[in-house]
Amino acid sequence: MGGKILLANMDVPGIRDFDVYHASGGYKSVEKALRDMTPAQVAAEVTRSGLRGRGGAGFPTGLKWSFLDKKPDKPRFLVCNADESEPGTFKDRYLMQHLPHLLIEGLIVSSYALGVKSCYIYIRGEFKYLVGILEKAIREAHLHGFLGENILGTGFGLQIYVHPGAGAYICGEETALLESLEGKRGNPRIKPPFPAFKGLYGCPTVVNNVETLATIGPIINMGGEAYSKIGKGKSTGTKLISACGNINKPGVYEIEMGLPVKDFIYGDAYCGGIANDKKLKAVIPGGSSVPILPADLIVNTASGVQRLMTFESMADGDFISGTMLGSGGFIVFDEDACIVRNTWNLTRFYRHESCGQCSPCREGTGWMENVLHRIEHGQGKMSDIDLLVRIAKNIEGTTICPLGDAAAWPVASAIRHFRHEFEEHVLHPAEVLEKERGLQAVY
Ligand SMILES: Cc1cc2nc3c(=O)[nH]c(=O)nc-3n(C[C@H](O)[C@H](O)[C@H](O)COP(=O)(O)O)c2cc1C
Ligand code: SF4
Repeated sequence: MGGKILLANMDVPGIRDFDVYHASGGYKSVEKALRDMTPAQVAAEVTRSGLRGRGGAGFPTGLKWSFLDKKPDKPRFLVCNADESEPGTFKDRYLMQHLPHLLIEGLIVSSYALGVKSCYIYIRGEFKYLVGILEKAIREAHLHGFLGENILGTGFGLQIYVHPGAGAYICGEETALLESLEGKRGNPRIKPPFPAFKGLYGCPTVVNNVETLATIGPIINMGGEAYSKIGKGKSTGTKLISACGNINKPGVYEIEMGLPVKDFIYGDAYCGGIANDKKLKAVIPGGSSVPILPADLIVNTASGVQRLMTFESMADGDFISGTMLGSGGFIVFDEDACIVRNTWNLTRFYRHESCGQCSPCREGTGWMENVLHRIEHGQGKMSDIDLLVRIAKNIEGTTICPLGDAAAWPVASAIRHFRHEFEEHVLHPAEVLEKERGLQAVY
């Protein structure tokens, strides 16, 4: 189903270097945008494309850009969110490692559309190996006149800076990211004001995901209208999915939006089925923060319709039977995976990564981890299961940033769909511990 857009030139030898990238049609969108289009026309093409942010929330990119405060009294900034720390999500690093110029190209065209002269790539601290790759690509783009004071003689100028973080998941949240970029502790800000009005150094700022920005060049090349015809409904275009867990072929795949989930899991071109011919038990389809769904509900919706890889289809149903496409971190569990152990492991992560500003998140993630630890280790009580549900409910919607929800949803959804496993841990701890001996957590 569908051709590749982002990864189309992935297999061209040497594509990471400017010369090869340029010879393969790279940077054409910069020439087209800067020479033949006004900034407003570029932004209009992005709106027309229907592109939705690939960082997790799926917010329409053109609409986000239209919010940017355009008053001339302050500089505007574009910040590329390359923090990618969500368990199960590993597609942005893949793009930056193999196609750094695709990102640089997108940053130039986006900056032109937004009237930005300084652009930052905020990259996760652990991605040290990518910093050199990106800086080399930026140097090459300068050398060939695609960055600097007067790009291609058009009068438009842009500098791109790479800023490594220190390795905190919360710095992927856009306002924590801006704090960190300003040299402060990465604590999320209270919104409003939104970054479009008061972002980096108090100036209007757009924060977009790596994949979102890498898609801008291809959109300008093919035109927004053509891009909007790819995909399904309001989920236009293609999406990178990082697939992991108990599957035959873990990796990063570019899919056309609308691909049936079943084809993605079992198709030879994608995950290639469940490893060791086991049965599918469950999937977390959008990175660790989104609700887990059992096999029957991930393959078909509650109303029996085939579930598709789109923002809408993933959310189909009520809050109980739906989930989210999120950042596209697709984590697959086979029949032997222990949902309790994986939920506990994940909650340890959120407890560690909570910035501590809000009591429900700071305390709640710790309480949930303690309770899950005792259930997993054979010391749980039946009442602990509802206690977990109550703690999760008290975190949800009560915090400054969505990390609270991100920590609560996996626990609540795991109990909703796999309560029997939690009960089994409480009622038969010795048997469960024996069964799990030597079993690794999936994530
Ligand atoms: C705890 C937390 C972590 C996040 N981590 C990332 C991240 O690593 N990369 C990313 O693009 N967005 C991340 N986001 C979402 C960003 O806040 C923001 O919505 C996104 O960068 C916007 O880009 P988009 O509109 O292109 O999707 C995170 C959000 C939260 C609450
Ligand atoms: S929800 Fe958690 S991570 Fe977000 S601001 Fe509050 S304490 Fe910090």
